Amino acid sequence: MNNAIINNMEITTVNESKINSVDFESIAFGREFTDHMFSCDFKDGKWQTPKITPYQPLTLDPSARVFHYGQAVFEGMKAFKDDMDDVWLFRPEDNFNRINISAKRLAIPEFPKEYFLNGLSALIDLERDWIKKGEGNALYIRPFVIATEPAISASPANEFKFMIICSPVKSYYKGKVSVVFAQDYSRSANGGVGFAKAAGNYAAQFYPTSLVQKEGYQQIIWTDANTHEYLEEAGTMNIFFRVNDTLLTAPTSDRILDGITRKSIIQLAKDNNVAVEVRPVSVKEIKEAAKNGSLKEIFGSGTAAAVSPISDFKHGEETFKLEEQEDSYATFFKKKLTDIQYNRTEDKHAWRVKV
Ligand code: COI
Repeated sequence: MNNAIINNMEITTVNESKINSVDFESIAFGREFTDHMFSCDFKDGKWQTPKITPYQPLTLDPSARVFHYGQAVFEGMKAFKDDMDDVWLFRPEDNFNRINISAKRLAIPEFPKEYFLNGLSALIDLERDWIKKGEGNALYIRPFVIATEPAISASPANEFKFMIICSPVKSYYKGKVSVVFAQDYSRSANGGVGFAKAAGNYAAQFYPTSLVQKEGYQQIIWTDANTHEYLEEAGTMNIFFRVNDTLLTAPTSDRILDGITRKSIIQLAKDNNVAVEVRPVSVKEIKEAAKNGSLKEIFGSGTAAAVSPISDFKHGEETFKLEEQEDSYATFFKKKLTDIQYNRTEDKHAWRVKV
């Protein structure tokens, strides 16, 4: 092991990387992790000295509040390698801002910006070799915070751990995605935590999603909890509908995640003169559009999912299939987005950040 202190961070690196044991060609999403991890503890009312150490298991007291009350939030980011071997992050400050927005809602103390940005770039710099070139290859970066204080009274913890771990990935979904529009279960409610990347938002979807998976669907598009009449998000992605040549997507709210890929696509649509309407999208109008042929596409957007086309959907007993479009918006926006992410084109909004 080698030790150093850089930017007030304690850095301990591995003697030997495990990279040669990884088969990058047949990698499953989020199963392999790089050599190092970033961590920083909150104790005695403040965030302590951040550390980068070899990737390793944690030791936590069984009473740590995260195990009992799910006081935990996370982020999803990606780093990309261009043809010149330079490494780029995509809109990292947006992830930083969002993890603190999520943290506030879960009564977790705000994490300092310089700890996040310095820790992130030092960690990614160490793991450059884990980022493979080529379309679809990326390093998925998972910042997260958990309540570590050993105490099972139902109140916010006083001790937390902020961490960043990294996983080399290819695409999240292989091929097209089939979805069910939710009618029974709900993902989030007014005044709840739907806008936050709270761990529990994901756990709550596993059971209803497992039911639709038994029928051959991959995901649920969640509808508003009050009426189940408006389409909100898919849980792993925000959702866009193309009706004729107009893109529709639900406005963000306290129930919907403010997706960074979502807002990038909205901006790219404006940049490319594609009509985009951010407004409530009803199940009724999408079913009617599917019946009269004006619904051309549905696709999801997210860091892990990138831009993922949806091939068909089910609502109640009715099923609808979407035809392939020659001028697919999903393909168009995926290319626009990845050209920026992989440094193949101009980045007029300064979304790319070099590591
Ligand atoms: C992401 O897209 O980064 C997410 O956090 C979604 C998760 C289901 C992988």
